[in-house]
Amino acid sequence: MSKQNPLIIVAGHICVDIIPAWPQAVESFAAVFKPGRLNEVGPALVSTGGAVSNTGIALHRLGVPVQLMGKVGPDLFGRAILDVVAGYDPALTEGMIVDPTADSSYTLVINPPGVDRIFLHNPGANRTFGAADVDLAKVRGAKVFHFGYPPIMRRMHLDDGAELATLLRAVHDLGVTTSLDMAQPDPTAEAGRVDWRRVLENALPHVDIFAPSLDETIFMLDRAHYDAIQRGEAARTPDVDLLHRLAQELLDMGAAVVALKLGELGLYLRTTNNAERLAAAGALIAPLHAGWLGRELLTPCYVANLAGTTGAGDCTIAGLLTSLLHGRPAEEAILDATAVGAASVESPDATGGVPTWEAVQARRAAGWEKHPLRINAGGWTPDAAHHLWRSPADASEEAQA
Ligand SMILES: Nc1ncnc2c1ncn2[C@@H]1O[C@H](COP(=O)(O)OP(=O)(O)OP(=O)(O)O)[C@@H](O)[C@H]1O
Ligand SMILES: [Mg+2]
Repeated sequence: MSKQNPLIIVAGHICVDIIPAWPQAVESFAAVFKPGRLNEVGPALVSTGGAVSNTGIALHRLGVPVQLMGKVGPDLFGRAILDVVAGYDPALTEGMIVDPTADSSYTLVINPPGVDRIFLHNPGANRTFGAADVDLAKVRGAKVFHFGYPPIMRRMHLDDGAELATLLRAVHDLGVTTSLDMAQPDPTAEAGRVDWRRVLENALPHVDIFAPSLDETIFMLDRAHYDAIQRGEAARTPDVDLLHRLAQELLDMGAAVVALKLGELGLYLRTTNNAERLAAAGALIAPLHAGWLGRELLTPCYVANLAGTTGAGDCTIAGLLTSLLHGRPAEEAILDATAVGAASVESPDATGGVPTWEAVQARRAAGWEKHPLRINAGGWTPDAAHHLWRSPADASEEAQA
């Protein structure tokens, strides 16, 4: 399948994670990290991370012809990244960029059983990724261009995101649907001082599908509320009014489809009620537009055998995009997205739990249970199975009848 022209290009952040195995639990970090001490560890688990690797490989596992466009340097870690990706399919590396002047991004995950983890992360080549790194000739002809994560890609958030807007505009002008995911900016670092509202105002007119997590969205649009949640002075669990208000701001800034990832609370989906905006949302969305106008839906998580949530957000996006490629209506797409997200948490790594698209559909058809909705959705209407809630404003056929 990967020999076909790619339907989806996944570009942006990629890194390699080096995770040493610890022979036994430790009492504290202080007990282990003493100056001059040698800690013997076991074999390292080497896996790739970042939006390019996670969403890209999840799409590949779902059977979608995909191309990965991340940037690495001409070094050992860069070769490791290419090697891991090629292990899934050598064709996946054809769009990867090797910059002779860059160093590859890596994370050392110090994860002894018994204490919390420490990450040593070098952003490397992701810091300098710019619009010129994307070869538009390779993007032309694809249906979707998915990009993540500007908050940990320095050049993408400098100057109020000018470079990000330039890239997304250029891709959108090709008639390709643009999709954007975020990451949590480090509040104490440069990215935490960026005016994210300005970045979004500049980028979202060129973004068709915006799929950040709720926490990232609150951080970017309402820092005071974010800080109040951190201090325990505001509720961590959102209500539907907050979701509606945040999504309205993002639609007003120019996005056509907003998906807010709610972690273990599920997924919220809202689409523009402007038919012209939807028709201009690129090759993926323009043909579907009947049931995608003015939608507002909410769903809890599918019940999953939890092994690790790394990459759940990236896999959820892969599920949403695959559902759209299959021409599914909004009420199925939100369920498909959470199904792939739930499958992904059943393996400890980012994408190992993602099965084929057919297997996802078979599991859904066999009556896959969902958790009860834990968000107060007063005034919203559930379906018979209590899997899907529609807002009072949702433009479903029932609502219009
Ligand atoms: N414990 C879980 N069980 C089932 N599904 C889950 C669970 N945790 C998350 N999910 C699914 O994964 C989706 C994405 O998770 P989350 O909101 O944590 O994304 P994220 O913050 O972007 O995460 P990350 O960037 O770490 O991948 C959720 O919307 C949900 O559908
Ligand atoms: Mg995420």
